[in-house]
Amino acid sequence: MVNTLAIIGAQWGDEGKGKMTDLLSQDADLIVRFQGGNNAGHTIKFNGKTFALHLVPSGIFKDTSSNLLASGMVIDPEALYQELKMLETMHIDTEARLWIASRAHVVLDFHKTLDALYEDIRSEKIGTTHKGIGPAYTDKAARLGLKMATFVSKTGFKTYLDKHLPFVNKLLESYHYAPVKQADLIKKMAPYQAAFKTMIVDGSKLIDTAIEMGQNVVFEGAQGTMLCLDHGTYPFVTSSSPSAAAIPLNTGIAPKKIRRVLGILKVYTTRVGGGAFPTEIHDDTAEFIRTKGHEFGTTTGRARRIGWLDIVQLRHAVRLNGFDAFALMLFDVLVGVDTLKLCTAYKLDGKTIDIIPADHETLSRCEPVYETLEGFDDDLDKVDSYKALSNPAKTYIKRIETLTNVPVAYISTGPDRTAIIKRDEIIAKTLKE
Ligand code: GDP
Ligand code: IMO
Ligand code: MG
Repeated sequence: MVNTLAIIGAQWGDEGKGKMTDLLSQDADLIVRFQGGNNAGHTIKFNGKTFALHLVPSGIFKDTSSNLLASGMVIDPEALYQELKMLETMHIDTEARLWIASRAHVVLDFHKTLDALYEDIRSEKIGTTHKGIGPAYTDKAARLGLKMATFVSKTGFKTYLDKHLPFVNKLLESYHYAPVKQADLIKKMAPYQAAFKTMIVDGSKLIDTAIEMGQNVVFEGAQGTMLCLDHGTYPFVTSSSPSAAAIPLNTGIAPKKIRRVLGILKVYTTRVGGGAFPTEIHDDTAEFIRTKGHEFGTTTGRARRIGWLDIVQLRHAVRLNGFDAFALMLFDVLVGVDTLKLCTAYKLDGKTIDIIPADHETLSRCEPVYETLEGFDDDLDKVDSYKALSNPAKTYIKRIETLTNVPVAYISTGPDRTAIIKRDEIIAKTLKE
């Protein structure tokens, strides 16, 4: 029996992981976010309502589900508190349904200050979300970080600040920033400590027990594979690993317990922030897609960069994640685009290559090699099965399957939970058996 499923972004983030997590959580008992923090922005729509989540797993809308912020995350207490308040005003009850791993790390205000500072002083801007993610993971790796278990202990938090703040303040002062006042920080955090104290659990044990009991567990990725610190387009990446390989380490469960991996991708490509993007386009089609797909960041509101689907990039993601199947998102956005392009290789210094060069400057010089396909004009409001799609639409999907060797199990045709074409046979064979 398959009872664990990972939902992973196959591109540079914003692929629609939130929508698919919400949808698939309808059959799940426990939903786990395993890395990143509120740099993520996951949009979910159902019953005429729209929700934007940044920390809370997108499984929260199934009212019998449990949801966990696992140990690999970095959590901004203020942001989490506000998100819970937002859910409360939207009548989503989170009482006794949201848990925080005791080993998750905390993002404090000075991490956000440092995030902005590093961006300001570095010559090559990453275009981070300014949510303090990089500095919080830096502190973790430097063994200066703060775990949730320590944060919720009043004495633990104070002892941490006694040790760590002089170091932070020296750094801030050297760049003429105001130092952090310990008493102010303690006062500001007090309500969050109180609110989260009862939510702290051993995340590893919680997940493992659920799996052993035969419950269905969904792991919700944030960001996308190309933003992976280890295998992405470094240095234009985030500071964690959004890939399936990161789940065991970031949750505290054994690798063999991750049974199925669903790759989420748009039928084109988007990217927010700086960095190489070989298939990026700046023409009328890009504008058409940006407008029709509302391609503006959920977290920062920035216009997303737009490009054609990149098979070289997707094969990289397939290799890293071992996707059992794909969910193809924003399929409706391409309706009306006359000619579609798929990048099947790169040209570099006169040679054809089919891997992502590790050196960023080299990747920036790669030129896409395209094959063109006929566009499709389906009225997707009237299509509820794969069979009912037009031939050009099917050809586009089949070509993606052939070039990546991954079957497409879901085709998303709108932001709403109900706008989805399910290919039941493929779902059964790749994700359930
Ligand atoms: P995530 O970060 O991967 O969860 O993705 P985001 O929520 O940041 O971005 C995806 C955007 O596309 C959101 O605004 C969704 O509401 C929207 N969306 C998801 N699926 C579809 C779809 O099939 N069609 C359209 N038009 N929008 C979609
Ligand atoms: P979701 O979960 C798209 C990008 C930022 C920047 C880089 C580093 O919604 O798919 P960071 O603040 O993490 O240090 O920024 O990573 N980035 C995302 N892009 N979707 C996301 O999350 C992202 N999270 C971070 O734009 O380029
Ligand atoms: Mg997003």
